[in-house]
Amino acid sequence: MFNSLISINDLDTEGIKTLFRLADELKKKPQDFRNVLEGRIFGFIFEKPSTRTWVSFQAGIFSMGGGVIYLGPEDIKLGVREEVRDVARVLNRYLAGCVLRTFSHWTITEFRDYFEKPVINGLSDKEHPCQALADYMTLYEKIPAEKDPVLAFVGDGNNVLHSLLLVTAKLGAKIRYATPKKYQPSPKIVKAAKDIAKKTGAVIEGFFDPVEAVAGADAIYTDVWVSMGEEAIRKKKLKDFQGMQVNKELVAKAKKGAFIMHCLPARRGEEITDSVIESKNSIVFDEAENRIHIQKAILLHLLNEGAIR
Ligand code: CP
Ligand code: NVA
Repeated sequence: MFNSLISINDLDTEGIKTLFRLADELKKKPQDFRNVLEGRIFGFIFEKPSTRTWVSFQAGIFSMGGGVIYLGPEDIKLGVREEVRDVARVLNRYLAGCVLRTFSHWTITEFRDYFEKPVINGLSDKEHPCQALADYMTLYEKIPAEKDPVLAFVGDGNNVLHSLLLVTAKLGAKIRYATPKKYQPSPKIVKAAKDIAKKTGAVIEGFFDPVEAVAGADAIYTDVWVSMGEEAIRKKKLKDFQGMQVNKELVAKAKKGAFIMHCLPARRGEEITDSVIESKNSIVFDEAENRIHIQKAILLHLLNEGAIR
């Protein structure tokens, strides 16, 4: 099986640190990597909308001399017009790698099993690995890892939190998360993260009360309450997440000057207030920027091109 990034579990601690170092180099000296992907064409199979993931991957690949073919939901109708395994085997003959954004995580693993080049998860129902890596890259730019920043997550226990939990575990970092009772992260992922934490010294603590989660935190992170594909249960989710908003009262319980993080897109007035996301401690656009740097590093790492310059 080819080197792919479907889950944070596809990386070990050293791999994550290598990505951070390479992303930093790419950020500082993009011109040194101008031609490393020359002649390589990548496929983007997106079943859901995207701003950051699509544009940052595409701009990143163009900036390294490669090409991209975007395949939206109406184009190849993955799994509807044709079985995932057939599409994967056909595209394998044309492309150097694929980024997939799908409803079901299974679609990405099935695709990976039949595609003999790197496959990258650009978000599934289960994980959002590129996001969590960009988030930790950003957090460590603000507060170096040696200072052991405490990250608090307040929101839904799905894809973004899952990947954050696994990165936290692998890095031996600290996370305190709060979700409503009905929206806790997958017990399997929490267990996996806690098992890794026993070896790395990471601290992973779950709460239902956001005030407990943010107490003394260096950064507060949130994500939308209604994820893509959940529009039909929007009303119910808005009700179930009452009391979980990141507003100035909640921020006041964290460490003074705590950073505000969000994967974006944000719904101001729902999971976060306008004044908090616009506050001077908000680093949401730094996170968005770092998506391009970390994803360029991921591509080079998976293609074993990390050392080429
Ligand atoms: N954070 C993120 O993945 O953004 P997009 O949905 O716009 O890609
Ligand atoms: N949890 C959100 C993340 C968006 C980047 C979703 O799945 O829509």
